[in-house]
Order: sequence, then C-alpha cells, then structure tokens
Amino acid sequence: MIPTPHISITDKELVAKTVLMPGDPLRAKMIAETFLEDVVQINTVRNMFGYTGTYKGKKVTVMGSGMGMPSIGIYSYELFKFYDVENIIRVGSCGAYTKDLNLYDVILVDDAYSESSYAKTMGLTSAKTLKANRTLNNRALKAAERLNIPVTTGRIHSSDVFYNLKGSVHEERFEKNGCIAVEMESFALFANAKALGKKATCLLTVSDSLVTHEATTAEERQNSFSRMMEIALEVARK
Ligand code: ADE
Repeated sequence: MIPTPHISITDKELVAKTVLMPGDPLRAKMIAETFLEDVVQINTVRNMFGYTGTYKGKKVTVMGSGMGMPSIGIYSYELFKFYDVENIIRVGSCGAYTKDLNLYDVILVDDAYSESSYAKTMGLTSAKTLKANRTLNNRALKAAERLNIPVTTGRIHSSDVFYNLKGSVHEERFEKNGCIAVEMESFALFANAKALGKKATCLLTVSDSLVTHEATTAEERQNSFSRMMEIALEVARK
C-alpha cells in the first residue's frame, strides 16, 4: 500500500532500511544536507520532509516525525509496515528531570515510561514502559565509545503534555518511575516497533532542565546535536 496517506514516495527502493527521525522536518533537511551524499527527497506531504542519501557509502533515510506520539506513531508505522524499514532511530531533544544531567548531555534511551494510551489503544499492550532495541543500543554505545562522546543511558518519560499544570510532575516521574528526562515520542515509536517486529531506539540531547530551568539557545543546540547525529549515523552504517 504505497504511497501511504502521509508519505508520497512510490519507490520503496528509495527508502533505506534504517531511518533517522528528528522531530523537526527542517532538521531532517539540515541533516541530509550536512551529512548525506547523493540525496533525493522522499516526502513532501504536509511538509514532513524526508530524504534518502548515503553516509560513508551506506544508504540512510532521514525524515521528520513531528511532535508527540500520534504524529511519530503515524510516520513510523507507515515506514515500518509499508516501506519495509527495519530500524528507526529517533534523534531528538529532551528536558532533564535530574540535576545530574547538564544541558547538551547525550542520552541513549533504555526504555520509555508513559501515561499515554497509545499502545493500549492500538491493541498492543497495557504496559506503561516499553524498551528500546538492545542490538541498536549496543551499537550506539560502541559508536559513542569510538567517537569519544560521553553518553548517559536510562529511562525517559514520553509525555503527552508539554505544558503541564502540575508543577512537580518531573519530581514524581523521577522518584517514582525512575525517569531521568522527558520528551514526547519514544513510547509510540517503541510500541510500533514491538507491534511490527522491528527495531527502534532513541538518542536525545538535553535542551532544557525542569530542575534548574536552564535552556539552550538555538545555535548551541545545533552544535550539540551534531554529536548525537554522529552516533546515530554510525549505528545506521552497521
Ligand atoms: N523536549 C525537550 N524539552 C522538553 C520538555 N521540557 N518537555 C517535553 N519535551 C521536551
């Protein structure tokens, strides 16, 4: 069933087995322009840009996921199910839930806790925590070591809400659920991977702290983002 309702490319061969997914489609464009060669655009529907190119000779696709679980849920499902994608690596930003994390730190997600009904509603599981793929994570850890990039591993919170009225929710999620940071997509991505027998993981850069209330500037984010991308691209190259 291609093209799908949300992805326009009609040639499956133009979608790589591994897809890197930033939230922002313009970031996907920047990644393709900066890191990939022989780039072709594979999606323009809703401006959710996607590109396929080569990284050190290996075919890699990079495509925006949009923000939140319903959005990444749609794009990752269609890529896995209809474009025969095997691996999706989300590359995003997160807010720190612990003072042990500093701005720009890179996190490799072990598992995602969520109150989201995504996995239950799709008929998969009522589990509140879903795991990242171990094979991809081992590759990411080895790549980070080779590149000499420090990485923190841990559980993150996939939240449905960016603007939470309950001021202390980060303390509760950290102390009760062991979540070290918050983002808004991984749980749905991991649910789709589990549902379809595929692999997914997530690398995050700390962009703000719910403990210290520090935040990064757009320019600084760009630089720190590159370190996380190098790890993700090395995982894609394997
Ligand atoms: N992504 C980056 N920072 C975040 C935050 N504070 N909450 C949710 N998602 C985020």
